[in-house]
Amino acid sequence: MHASDHATFEIMRDADIATIARVMAHAFAGTRESSAQWLTAAGLEHMRVLRTPDGSTPACLMRIPMAQFYGGRSVPMVGIAGVGVAPEARGRGHAAAMMRACVQNLHDEGVALSGLYCSTQALYRRVGYEQAGLRYQIRLPISRISVPGKARNVRPLEKADEPLVRACYAAYAPRFDGALDRGAYCWGRVACFREVEHYPFGFFNVAGDLEGYVYLSQQRLPTGRHEVWLTDLAFLTPDAGRQILAFFADFEPTADTIVFHGSPAHPLLALLPQQRYSVEFKDVWMIRVTHLERALTSRGYNPGVSAAVTLDLHDDIIASHTGRWTIGVEDGRGTVARGGEGPVLSCTIRGLAAMYSGLFTPTQARMLGWCSGGDEAMHAAGAIFHGSMPWMIDQF
Ligand SMILES: CC(C)(COP(=O)(O)OP(=O)(O)OC[C@H]1O[C@@H](n2cnc3c(N)ncnc32)[C@H](O)[C@@H]1OP(=O)(O)O)[C@@H](O)C(=O)NCCC(=O)NCCS
Repeated sequence: MHASDHATFEIMRDADIATIARVMAHAFAGTRESSAQWLTAAGLEHMRVLRTPDGSTPACLMRIPMAQFYGGRSVPMVGIAGVGVAPEARGRGHAAAMMRACVQNLHDEGVALSGLYCSTQALYRRVGYEQAGLRYQIRLPISRISVPGKARNVRPLEKADEPLVRACYAAYAPRFDGALDRGAYCWGRVACFREVEHYPFGFFNVAGDLEGYVYLSQQRLPTGRHEVWLTDLAFLTPDAGRQILAFFADFEPTADTIVFHGSPAHPLLALLPQQRYSVEFKDVWMIRVTHLERALTSRGYNPGVSAAVTLDLHDDIIASHTGRWTIGVEDGRGTVARGGEGPVLSCTIRGLAAMYSGLFTPTQARMLGWCSGGDEAMHAAGAIFHGSMPWMIDQF
């Protein structure tokens, strides 16, 4: 029997703030004050605690409501962050119990997906999360940005410009599988990441429309020079992308490097005449399919594909997921129905996450032992979930 067997998973109360700030401070090496600020800024209604029968709260997590783009459509997703267990209470199954309850709650609420960055994959794999995307750090030496011309139509953005920024991101992000459809929490981190304010600049076309923007901060180096760090970057046309590069080039007198996160195939890099940047792996992020039907029907698919496969699915936590399903795509829309006779792909809900995101194809997942089945089923599922390598600029 685990210490967590009789514990309940509850919404955090005001009276828990001091205890949970201590748990989070030890979990993430912050101060109790900054931890208290972090969780109150997230909103207590989004905080969950594990409460043991004696009333103590040794564990917590944060839920971040948002969505994520797959196949060009926004799929409701709850991000999980701040998973912490008090140092004296670790190794007793609290985190695993809390994550199981969290996954069940998200299903009951009809949330399609859950996503997270992990410090230990094993904990989350046990409850059905699998690798779904990657985040790299890109370092672009400013002296090597040899684009001709200047940023002609750039200006600092104001609070009043926020709707333009949101509209620009909404036009940009759906092209990239895995990009967040941010809620207030993640937009807040674009403007202020770990207590560092980032300033927005907008790039306009001749008609005065915002076609690109960046959020930047400047980090002093011991040499007295500095690096320009970005929390967000989006552009809709090659002209806006080149304006952004030309704008960065003009930081050269006092700055060495532009630093941002995303994919090695980031579109800004594709506009450079020479590939003189470095890319370093930073993080894997994981997803969990928390509501099968919603996850399959709310995402987008390639409208040119018509395919179907029988999924023989197993889910340890959400019993109603377990069984045979026919999943398919027609005219860019996903279909899902119970039962099925055709070629069968067998997997756990965890294996499905890696294929759903597009990080691994079904044949790659089969090689990893994450699914099984014949080639016909693999190819049908591969056609259904085909996309581009999932990534995101955000860290939450
Ligand atoms: C990670 C953490 C939340 C685990 O809490 P816990 O209650 O001790 O975990 P559990 O006892 O429920 O263990 C569940 C599984 O998590 C994994 N896990 C737990 N502690 C781990 C550790 N120190 N290193 C690697 N994996 C670990 C194991 O897979 C474990 O299952 P197993 O014991 O069957 O192998 C806790 O150590 C903690 O708060 N760490 C600091 C903050 C942190 O890393 N949070 C996660 C951010 S994504």
